[in-house]
Amino acid sequence: MGSLLLVANWKMHKTLEEAQIFLKEFLPLLPANSKIKIVLAPPFTLLHSLQHRLAGSSVALAAQNCHWEDKGAYTGEVSASMVYAAGCRYVILGHSERRQFFGETSAQIEKKIVSSLKTGLCPILCIGETLQEREGGRTEEVLKGQLRGSLQSIEELPSEFVVAYEPVWAIGTGRVASVQQIIETHEFIQKWLAAHWGNRVKTFVLYGGSVNADNILEFIGEPSVQGALIGGASLQAKSFLGLIERSISKCFPE
Ligand code: PGA
Repeated sequence: MGSLLLVANWKMHKTLEEAQIFLKEFLPLLPANSKIKIVLAPPFTLLHSLQHRLAGSSVALAAQNCHWEDKGAYTGEVSASMVYAAGCRYVILGHSERRQFFGETSAQIEKKIVSSLKTGLCPILCIGETLQEREGGRTEEVLKGQLRGSLQSIEELPSEFVVAYEPVWAIGTGRVASVQQIIETHEFIQKWLAAHWGNRVKTFVLYGGSVNADNILEFIGEPSVQGALIGGASLQAKSFLGLIERSISKCFPE
C-alpha cells in the first residue's frame, strides 16, 4: 500500500473560534504516520489563521475553490495565488455542489486547474454522476466527459494530481457506493488518467460521499483507492480522528 490522502472538506462550516476548538482537540491526538497525509479544507476566512496554527504540524491546507484569474475586478472571488499565499498547497475544484448550485462548467474548472498548477497548488478535481445517470448506465460516459472537459488541454504536467470520485447521490445522504462500484469506477478513472498522462504524474484517486469511521473500512486499503474526501464526518475532531486511526490500522498495521 502506497501513501494515503485524507481530505477534510469543511464546506461552509466553522468560525475561527470553532476551528480553534477543533484543532485544540485534534492536533495533540493526531497519530504520527508518514504514510498518511491529512489535508484540511476550511472556508477562505480561516486559511491565514490556520496556516499559523498548523505550522510545524503534518497537516496541510486546501482551499475549497479558486478563480482562474490572478487578480482583477471579480467581486467575491479569490485567486489561486491568494490561497497559495494563505498557506494552501491544495485546492478542491469542481465539487458537485459548485457545479449544481453555482453553475460551474468543466471549461471553467479547466481554467482553474491551469491557474492552480501555475501557482504551485495541487488540484483535487471532483467528479461524479447523479443517481439518474448511474441508474441509466451512463456513469463512465459522464465521468469521461468531466475528465476530458476539464483536463484535455492540460499540457503542463503536475508532479501530483488528485481526483476525488464523489457520486452525487452519496454526498451528505448517508448512502455510500458499494465497494464493487468504488473499485470499478476508480479503475476506470485511473485508466483514463494513465492514457492521458502516462505514468509521469503521481495521481491519487479518492472516494467521497458519506464516508465515516465505520464505512471507510469497507474500501480503504483497496489498491485502487488512495484516500478519501470527507465532509460531515470531518467536522468533529473525535469522528475525524477515529476515521484516521482506523485507516492507519487497516492500511499500515504494525
Ligand atoms: P459528505 O461530503 O462526506 O458529507 O457526504 C463529502 C463531500 O461533499 O466532499
